Amino acid sequence: MSVAMSSAAAAPAQADSILVVRGLHKHFGGIKAANGVDLEVRRHEIAGLIGPNGSGKSTLFSLVSGTVPPDSGEIRFDGREIAGMSAHRIARLGLARTFQIPALFENMSVRENLLAAAAEGHWAGARERAEETLALLSLEHVADNRASDLSGGQQKLLEFGRAVMRQASLILLDEVTAGVHPNIRRIILDAIVRLRDKGVSFLIIEHDMEMVRNVCDRIIVMDSGRVVTSGAFEDIVRDSQVMQTYLGRPQ
Ligand SMILES: Nc1ncnc2c1ncn2[C@@H]1O[C@H](COP(=O)(O)OP(=O)(O)OP(=O)(O)O)[C@@H](O)[C@H]1O
Ligand SMILES: [Mg+2]
Repeated sequence: MSVAMSSAAAAPAQADSILVVRGLHKHFGGIKAANGVDLEVRRHEIAGLIGPNGSGKSTLFSLVSGTVPPDSGEIRFDGREIAGMSAHRIARLGLARTFQIPALFENMSVRENLLAAAAEGHWAGARERAEETLALLSLEHVADNRASDLSGGQQKLLEFGRAVMRQASLILLDEVTAGVHPNIRRIILDAIVRLRDKGVSFLIIEHDMEMVRNVCDRIIVMDSGRVVTSGAFEDIVRDSQVMQTYLGRPQ
């Protein structure tokens, strides 16, 4: 889908942005999954990333987190150019992401999964932090269960918990509340807000507009591999073209 609309002019890079992406390109064969992405995530904000299926949201996460190398473009995280750096190095710098399909150690317990995330990054205080994370996400009662025995929603919680354990300053969440029970969704929302209040910045891919409205400070809309607009939820919703074309929901 490609619709002509006034694309947001690329704002100048701001010192208060923790992430600045400029002119990011990535093609898979003939598919331009990233076709000149420009966006920013400001410090201590929860930015929501929305857009139709296949618009390049998860690919953007893979490019930013280093699991897929970009063809061209700039990615500046906390003032440092990271485009093309290994995923491991980027994670060590303080950028964490979750996967759309949870990437857990299925044969390990919930607690061990949290500790493993710390072992891949910052081990200091890991045991205490694992207990805090179990409490934050109401996972204490299943701490010794195998990850493979968790419900789908609990697996999403644990995937989120693994990102929390990395002590990141920027966390990218890929549809972390998709298909989960409202109780677990509430736990995730509360944890996101609490972590933001402690100084963590978030970029979250989300299809649930209620969640976007409740938690996001700013919305970024993608289509066909690029950012087409961004702004406050109310302004995005008021733009009926965005609502109809990109979200399939007429106002
Ligand atoms: N590793 C890959 N190899 C080939 N094509 C890919 C690869 N990763 C993504 N794509 C393609 O790139 C485009 C963007 O995919 P992406 O997963 O980033 O979209 P998305 O916005 O996250 O969609 P969804 O909302 O369905 O999760 C799609 O056409 C997809 O098929
Ligand atoms: Mg996706």
